[in-house]
Amino acid sequence: MTQLSVNINKIATLRNARGGDIPDLLKMAKDIQRFGAEGITVHPRPDERHVRYQDILDLKPLVNTEFNIEGYPDKKWLDLVLKVKPTQATLVPDSPDVITSNAGWDTIEYEGFLKEIISALKDAGIRTSIFIETNLKHIENAPKTGADRIELYTEAYADNYHKDQESAIEPYVEAAKLAGELDLGINAGHDLNLDNLKYFSQNIPNLQEVSIGHALIADALYFGLENTVQLYLRQLKP
Ligand code: PXP
Repeated sequence: MTQLSVNINKIATLRNARGGDIPDLLKMAKDIQRFGAEGITVHPRPDERHVRYQDILDLKPLVNTEFNIEGYPDKKWLDLVLKVKPTQATLVPDSPDVITSNAGWDTIEYEGFLKEIISALKDAGIRTSIFIETNLKHIENAPKTGADRIELYTEAYADNYHKDQESAIEPYVEAAKLAGELDLGINAGHDLNLDNLKYFSQNIPNLQEVSIGHALIADALYFGLENTVQLYLRQLKP
């Protein structure tokens, strides 16, 4: 069964737009779990324009589902993750100024860098995942970094889904098959939504987790948070 982890960065972004504490990020994280989500994802960025480092420390005792911290593994991020000890750390190669993640790791060029960080995370008992495109060479080399899982970067799937579902999913099926042969766990995320999620989860073998933020929080404006979490869960559970 694929687990739904809700990325709550957008809630923090809305709060930060005004200052103060509306919406209350901590309450919403608790409620998202109460409504059935199986995980909470946060993605701190160095300028703290979305979720703040202090938010993550405050969330730690409240997250009783899977806690996933994503981000570019600079020293500040790594120190935070080692302190919080979430269930999973997802390494993303984004530069500080990007609006949102826009590429996966080249696991060949960055093998040594990733290996060192992943080893520190694993020593602390944290499961590791690396954000990656469907480039089979990069997936083939992923085990050398020591990562437990890969997170498939699904922007290209989401972009192509409305043009041709089969060709949109095909590289992801190939990538997932190879990851399975290499004993890598499989997560996915980016631009997944109520239109494209079901087809993705039905066609990707052994998909363990999706992390979804932007579309889910936007849908909650129409449908309400509880209904929206349920709608997303229903796409994942046949
Ligand atoms: N996975 C990673 C690594 C991300 O950076 C993001 C966006 O922060 C997501 C998943 C979620 O993407 P979206 O907000 O489009 O659902």
